[in-house]
Amino acid sequence: MQDLKDRLIEKYGGEDIRAVVSPLRICPLGAHVDHQGGIVTGVALDSSVNLVYTPNEDGYIRIQSMDFPDEEYFHVDNIPDMVPGAWGNYIRGAVLSLKRDFVIKTGFSAIISGKLPIGGLSSSAAVTTAYLMAICDVNGIEVEKMDLVHYSHWVETDYIGLKNGILDQAANILSEKDKLMVMDCSTDEYKLVDKAEDTPEFEFVVVYSGISTALIGTDYNNRVDECKVASWLLHEVSENKVPNLKEAKLRNISPEVFLNHQEELPGRFRKRATHFFTEQERVKKGIDAWSRGDLVAFGQLMNESGESSVYQYECGCPELITIYETLKSTEGVYGARFSGAGYRGCCIGLIDPKYKESIRAKMDAVYPVKHPQYKDVYDVHFCKVEDGARYVKI
Ligand code: GLA
Repeated sequence: MQDLKDRLIEKYGGEDIRAVVSPLRICPLGAHVDHQGGIVTGVALDSSVNLVYTPNEDGYIRIQSMDFPDEEYFHVDNIPDMVPGAWGNYIRGAVLSLKRDFVIKTGFSAIISGKLPIGGLSSSAAVTTAYLMAICDVNGIEVEKMDLVHYSHWVETDYIGLKNGILDQAANILSEKDKLMVMDCSTDEYKLVDKAEDTPEFEFVVVYSGISTALIGTDYNNRVDECKVASWLLHEVSENKVPNLKEAKLRNISPEVFLNHQEELPGRFRKRATHFFTEQERVKKGIDAWSRGDLVAFGQLMNESGESSVYQYECGCPELITIYETLKSTEGVYGARFSGAGYRGCCIGLIDPKYKESIRAKMDAVYPVKHPQYKDVYDVHFCKVEDGARYVKI
């Protein structure tokens, strides 16, 4: 943080200097169910996007990223258009999102930086939340955490155009240290599940594949549409009232209807629905395992979730599948799965920290050999579970 503060003073000056820590997130169980109104789990990591900022009464926003060369610079009354792929989209979207409900007059100058590589840990939600919190702070706006989740989600869906659910923002904002955040994406109800007192020590390994393409350019949106079609078809074959396709979600189908009618669904739609309903079962069992401190059972469910993501949801890419398969068979790893959507970015493993070095050694022996084009960017990190996005004193 001190280096960001020094850089801020050097580049923009300012005395009233403030900071937000916005953590990266992982989703141990509940993959690809958020956009269908399902129940997800999430935790925030002790690795974060950090934003150090100072208010500008003139209404200008100026941001220098430590990770990208260009500076973002505009007035809050004159927000530039979205440019596909530009990192500045998230601050533009954040201002627009809040402007729907609030008068924004004060801008800020800021330095932003993330520690882990981009892709699969939802750095986009982390960045957006950090911006939203800074804008709120300098404009004297107070919002509830759940509203912040929705302001942040709006940027991704309505501004950037991804058809994603609310998992990333919920995990980034609502999480608390050592607890499992569980959220019902159809009602916004959430709980923070304590780990059992005698839970063995654990950490998460985060293995970065070296692939950082944006989710908007992957098959992500197609899969969301396939789930909707599966729901729509299940409504039709079970003679339920058929909703408008836009409103159709697998959560509105009961597990019984799915079991009775699954054979009537064409292949790919049956697979997407199978993933949804089995994943919901895994989430339920996972909450129980977490609260009992049974990391072996929790890890096994993560492995099964990974399997279902690959073979039923059919997401992933060869590189992430290599990491998933390798982690699964590594001593000291309770369970593994893709960290986020699975098209790029990272795989995660729930691990016993005693095995950190041998886990790293195993990954080093396999991944760069099988995918040499990523050997210079691939990386292995170990993370603990931390609090969600927060203001910090600097
Ligand atoms: C990405 C999306 C989330 C969620 C996950 C998969 O991270 O942004 O909304 O769908 O993939 O669980």
